Amino acid sequence: MSPGGSGLSVGDEVEVEVTAFAHGGHCVARHDGQVLFVRHTLPGERVLARVTEVGSGSRFVRADAVEVRHASDDRVVQPCPWSGPGACGGCDLQHVSLDAQRRLKAGVVREQMARLAHLEVDVEVEPVPGDDRGLRWRTRVEFAVDGAGNAGLRRHRSHEVVPVDRCRIATDAVTALEVTGRDWPGAEAVDAVAPSGGPAVAVEVPGEEVPEVLERVSTSWRSAHGPVSFAREFAVSARGFWQVHPGAAATFLAAAMEPLAVRPGERVLDLYCGVGLFASALSEAVGPGGQVVAVEADRDAVERATRDLSSLGNVAVVAGRVDDLFGVPRTDRHRGRSRSRRPARSPLLPQSADVVVLDPPRTGAGTAVVRAVAATGPRAVAYVACDPAALARDTAAFLAAGYRLASLRAFDAFPMTHHVECVAHFVPAGA
Ligand SMILES: C[S@@+](CC[C@H](N)C(=O)[O-])C[C@H]1O[C@@H](n2cnc3c(N)ncnc32)[C@H](O)[C@@H]1O
Repeated sequence: MSPGGSGLSVGDEVEVEVTAFAHGGHCVARHDGQVLFVRHTLPGERVLARVTEVGSGSRFVRADAVEVRHASDDRVVQPCPWSGPGACGGCDLQHVSLDAQRRLKAGVVREQMARLAHLEVDVEVEPVPGDDRGLRWRTRVEFAVDGAGNAGLRRHRSHEVVPVDRCRIATDAVTALEVTGRDWPGAEAVDAVAPSGGPAVAVEVPGEEVPEVLERVSTSWRSAHGPVSFAREFAVSARGFWQVHPGAAATFLAAAMEPLAVRPGERVLDLYCGVGLFASALSEAVGPGGQVVAVEADRDAVERATRDLSSLGNVAVVAGRVDDLFGVPRTDRHRGRSRSRRPARSPLLPQSADVVVLDPPRTGAGTAVVRAVAATGPRAVAYVACDPAALARDTAAFLAAGYRLASLRAFDAFPMTHHVECVAHFVPAGA
């Protein structure tokens, strides 16, 4: 109990009935009026929960299920020996069958959409081709290095390094680098990267030079004019952004492109474009009479996109933050206030666009950016989202700006973890 006797303290153990699965990979339980966020359990289970953290004001408590007293039918023997209470923090759902993982994640997407966008959605989490029943898929792993130079993976919500033999969700090519079997004196971390278009590399952090890796994407989708095939190679910094599941880039590209049905001659915005995955497909779709304006804040990604897409002739890569270029305030989500700095709208962004693709980071685009996107008057928007709560908040902003959700798909691009990727399409409410 806490010193005042009014609640739970770190280390306390209590038996709880577990109810819902929540966004973030934990389940909800209650004890004497306190809400517990319990990891390593499942809805319907009765477990002994050990308190690991108490939130400010004791309003919520984090805990690990250290003993299962009534197990869910969805529970399986975890394939990874390094996962579990007090162990590696990389995976949340090793103890859950793959089917159930996808059902739970679909429930999170539905719940976030209902709570934050007031929308009832019917969504399933679809598998992404390229993993081994949820294992051996991660093409990029950041190993942490401890003070003695040993590489491992971080304990949940800790800087402590767990000395794993290998990561069960990493690809064989990442494992073959044997990062955990070597000494890394002076390093803080080692990034193991196994790209689809070349050999795997281990990159020491901090380090002098970050190598470039090649990623190959080949996919197809239906269009009004018949099937479209797309194949291209992308040069990416080994520490720059690229999807980590081997099937993710192709799957998201096809899922975003098909409902957009981009037409020759159209003007398209690709916001948060990275090295230009969507921009290059959009360039082919709009053809020589069309135009793609691609926006990216990371300088290295901008340089690569500019170099690699310039030969296409109809793509302009604009460097900068999307919010700054639209001339809308930057939102500091943690304090819920806007920063005072507000630049003017950049002339590099067109006033109108036929189609917009957005693929923002976890925080989402934010209401002000969504309003600015809607103000360009697109006939269709594709939104690729790695956080369902951010997507739901931005969906609410699209609805308020006169758009409706036309379709929503969700993908299991991060099996064994709570993460889920969504691809949403918006069209004007009257369309
Ligand atoms: C999820 S990634 C998507 C990249 C790309 N669409 C892809 O599929 O490879 C998000 C990208 O947004 C960039 N980014 C983050 N915040 C940004 C901002 N405020 N304005 C522009 N780009 C931003 C990141 O550097 C990153 O490349």
